[in-house]
Amino acid sequence: MKIAVTAASGQLGSSIAKQLINELGKQDVIGIARSPKKANHLGIEIRKGDYDSRQELDLALKDIDVVLLVSGMAEPQKRIQQHRNVIETAKVNGIKKIVYTSIIGDEKNTSFAPIVQSNRQTELDIKNSGLEWVIGRNGIYIEPDLDYLDNYIKEGEIRNCAGKGKCAYTSRKELGYAYTKMLVEGTHNGHTYNLSGEPISQKKLTEYINSVYHTELVYNSISVKDYCAERKEALGEFLGSVISGIYEAIHNGTYNVASDFEKATGRPHQSAIEMIRELKISDNN
Ligand SMILES: NC(=O)c1ccc[n+]([C@@H]2O[C@H](COP(=O)([O-])OP(=O)(O)OC[C@H]3O[C@@H](n4cnc5c(N)ncnc54)[C@H](OP(=O)(O)O)[C@@H]3O)[C@@H](O)[C@H]2O)c1
Repeated sequence: MKIAVTAASGQLGSSIAKQLINELGKQDVIGIARSPKKANHLGIEIRKGDYDSRQELDLALKDIDVVLLVSGMAEPQKRIQQHRNVIETAKVNGIKKIVYTSIIGDEKNTSFAPIVQSNRQTELDIKNSGLEWVIGRNGIYIEPDLDYLDNYIKEGEIRNCAGKGKCAYTSRKELGYAYTKMLVEGTHNGHTYNLSGEPISQKKLTEYINSVYHTELVYNSISVKDYCAERKEALGEFLGSVISGIYEAIHNGTYNVASDFEKATGRPHQSAIEMIRELKISDNN
């Protein structure tokens, strides 16, 4: 069985590819990447595949049995079409099963909703494709908070609009483990899983970071309006509204969800503090 992983040059795609290689060996895992050079470190066959190019995807999906579609990064309407390009070329090439990395979230009420809607549209497109399918709805990655740690330390605080809302974080490594199982094991076909860990508040997240990194951060909540303005100023209109929309959704309780991780993998998701400890160690190596 040959399995292709799209966006293999990215952090989630490469995590999935690495864990698949451990499970199946290098010969049965193919990476597809818009920037193939960035995926060469995986040591497997890498085929060129930009989501905007049906031609490239058509070649990249030859002789593949199962494809893992990593959600793209473009603005929502463009992203839907990019995902359709993968689904359509998968059909044409006789692929049997498609596994999609979607997102947990609310389709209304926040400035992150258009992204969630686009992911739900792709879920529908996949269900209507006639292929076997499995959908993972990813929790929020915990890594960006640790990547941002130097800024938090400079400011002495973690500041956002989540308030007391809880968020079920995950990590790309945990997701890689789950998607490997969902790709290889037939029992998951036709299921949609929330792939996330224990829901924790921002205060708890701050305490965990302090205990692992020996920092003295405090958590401060600000209004949705102020946070949205601040993020747009720092990150621009599109990314700023995506990020503030995520914290608004955490505030609204959207990410305080039950996890299906154990159904997907047969083991519990790592705890939040375990993920933080492990990411600190891998950062130091
Ligand atoms: N759950 C969360 O908290 C969360 C947070 C952020 C993003 N996401 C979603 O999860 C996805 C994967 O995250 P990540 O951590 O792997 O992000 P990442 O490390 O930034 O990688 C993004 C990947 O998408 C690829 N890509 C972008 N546009 C493409 C196109 N037109 N055709 C083919 N590939 C394209 C990039 O290719 P290049 O190497 O060529 O740029 C890269 O491989 C993201 O794309 C986004 O949809 C989820």
